[in-house]
Amino acid sequence: MSDHFSGGDLKTAAKLVILEEYLDVYTTILDSNWEWGDLWYVDTHSGTGKTHIDDKGINIDGSAIRAIDDYSEFFDRFYLYELNEEHFHTLHRTLSDTFDIQFDVGPVETDGEDFLVARCDDPYIRIMQMDSNQGVSFLANNANSNSHWFSFIDPKGLTAKKSTLDTLLDRGNVDILLNYQTTGVMRSAAAEHAHGAVRRTMGDDDWPEAGSREEYVQIYREKLEENGDIQPVLTKGLESPDDRRCRFDLVFACTNDGARSAMESIMNQDTLWEKAQDELGQSGLGDFI
Ligand SMILES: C[S@@+](CC[C@H](N)C(=O)[O-])C[C@H]1O[C@@H](n2cnc3c(N)ncnc32)[C@H](O)[C@@H]1O
Repeated sequence: MSDHFSGGDLKTAAKLVILEEYLDVYTTILDSNWEWGDLWYVDTHSGTGKTHIDDKGINIDGSAIRAIDDYSEFFDRFYLYELNEEHFHTLHRTLSDTFDIQFDVGPVETDGEDFLVARCDDPYIRIMQMDSNQGVSFLANNANSNSHWFSFIDPKGLTAKKSTLDTLLDRGNVDILLNYQTTGVMRSAAAEHAHGAVRRTMGDDDWPEAGSREEYVQIYREKLEENGDIQPVLTKGLESPDDRRCRFDLVFACTNDGARSAMESIMNQDTLWEKAQDELGQSGLGDFI
């Protein structure tokens, strides 16, 4: 049994390819053009550091490892959130082993707060064992507004609240890549007991109980676009070619036209699935036909 977050498949790898390629664009654009403050990487659902690809029996590097490995020279700070305590400990241990760095781990030293934090100062990394809906909203409302953030929101299930997105968008100076749980929303919308989770994800009750996957993505995109500065919001549906039962859509919001057009090319490239297969150490499409 792997200690790492399980349930990964080919679309997990495709998601990480898109993340990594966009981080390259983001750091290139912002490094030379953002003169007002720092650049921060904010990962709301950081996981354990790696994801277990169940049917291959392998672990692949997750979002935090990729961001730190490739871009620790560009980001001044990394804020990582992970609610599950076991995942939190696996994450700081995995980052320690991978980068040969030390974390100081203990309860946060703030009156009235009660969660674990793992601190490393070089590179500057803070891992918070808490609900990122609270954590990121606190950061957005209290940290200086001059830093520009890249925020990766990668839940499994309906745990990223629309109100958290609104807080990030209201803050501004942020590019957001979000993993929208398309089939999760569709299935929960059809089950009355799960409507609370859909409401938290969508931000209101204005959605059908029996919509198609495309409709739920379109509705979500339109809700985000109510914030006029980030139009158009881009989406990319990801379904593993060998298992189309489950789909998520990557949703991208930013205010910069150049960055948006670069992301459009990344999302729509012909070689995405080949690159995803390379991540899993596979060659050719044979396994999936
Ligand atoms: C899909 S995994 C993240 C994978 C990770 N981004 C990667 O690429 O390796 C989702 C993680 O979010 C955590 N999680 C769920 N709800 C959360 C919340 N409200 N705040 C922070 N973490 C949460 C889960 O425990 C799980 O480890």
